[in-house]
Amino acid sequence: MTAALLGLECEWVEVSDELKFFWHRPSWAAVEEQSADPETVRIFLNGCFDLMHVGHFNALRQAKRLFFQQGYKKVVMLAGIHSDEAITRQKGPPMMSDNERVAVLEATKWVDEFVTHLPYVSMSSQMADALRVRWICHGDDMPICKDGGGMYSDAIEHGRFQMLKRTEGISTTQIIERLLRQQGLGSGCEAEAMETALATTQRLGQFAAPADPEQGVKLLTSAKHVVYVPGIFDLVHPGHVSILQHAAKLGDYLLVGLYSDETVRQHRGTPPVLTMLERAMAVLSTRWVDDVVLGVPWKITKDLLATMNIKTVVVGRPPDGLESEQCLAEKEQMSVARAEGLLTELSSSFAVSSEALKQRFIARSGAFLDRNSKLFEKELAYVSTKSYVPEA
Ligand code: CTP
Repeated sequence: MTAALLGLECEWVEVSDELKFFWHRPSWAAVEEQSADPETVRIFLNGCFDLMHVGHFNALRQAKRLFFQQGYKKVVMLAGIHSDEAITRQKGPPMMSDNERVAVLEATKWVDEFVTHLPYVSMSSQMADALRVRWICHGDDMPICKDGGGMYSDAIEHGRFQMLKRTEGISTTQIIERLLRQQGLGSGCEAEAMETALATTQRLGQFAAPADPEQGVKLLTSAKHVVYVPGIFDLVHPGHVSILQHAAKLGDYLLVGLYSDETVRQHRGTPPVLTMLERAMAVLSTRWVDDVVLGVPWKITKDLLATMNIKTVVVGRPPDGLESEQCLAEKEQMSVARAEGLLTELSSSFAVSSEALKQRFIARSGAFLDRNSKLFEKELAYVSTKSYVPEA
């Protein structure tokens, strides 16, 4: 596993017999300098980050913003990601492999360093010391480890824990429940719980803002070369991340065009698993996207190209042999961009697509059904007792 994107070094750390992991960090000198600087705070947030969604992104976003709001000039986010093995033991098999989950996490604009191969045990103050972090953060759903202990009990006891608002209406469990329902296998659990994440205009603005408040917002009006990537961007995966990363290099402003849920349903037969607003917040969480147009036309028009001053249109090539019918349809969708000489095709460096993920899910739906039967009820129990936690 490499941290090529962030140019980090990798170190194996053993905190105790049960807590060992890889730490992807800058040089020791840089870490020590940050630790000694009173205007810098180093923080940690861990998770499974499976089928990475707006709830995960929002937790990372909030944690960082909270400390900027407290007056720090620099907030360094260390994201800890549990291993496939740890997740399988705690919750059941993840949908995405270690490498796939790490690739999406690394592409997230609020992440500065990360920890991989993390076991599902107490995230202790001893661990915080080893990583030179002051705070360990988590949403207000407090996880229990297999040994019955609270994952954050030790960090709370030592005054090192920061609670965040958990984002309503979405989780890996809920996404799996949505996928199961599409197969007619839903849990049948009825509860008055939100079924999608809410998107207030303020929340959308927070996702669109740069990770560091000192950094100015990039404006379309100042862009010299707008690159446009239209798509569905359902269930964010490394293929999406790779195409966005490469597309961004073709200009100085990356604009994503998202199809509405209804447009996707009309053209693909089923609506996406994530709503358009959930998909928008997810793509805005990557390092490269400057803005998103919501509900773009399925077929690119001259009007759209002129309105947004688009100089390059990027279309990703699906992994070999996949979706040839879809490729033909795509030719028609992109015909105006092609005729204008603006179209660029990019191959993704990851052989994964949303459709392949859905097929992976269908092939293993029995295992996911088992996984979700307990976890979904647990989540609904959390929803029924939750109280107001302000969002940062
Ligand atoms: N998180 C959040 N809001 C959500 C989901 C997760 O704030 N809707 C936060 C968690 O509180 C945690 C981090 O994201 O701080 C990683 O959580 P993780 O366990 O990976 O996510 P879930 O989606 O809750 O996973 P599952 O459904 O498998 O329990």
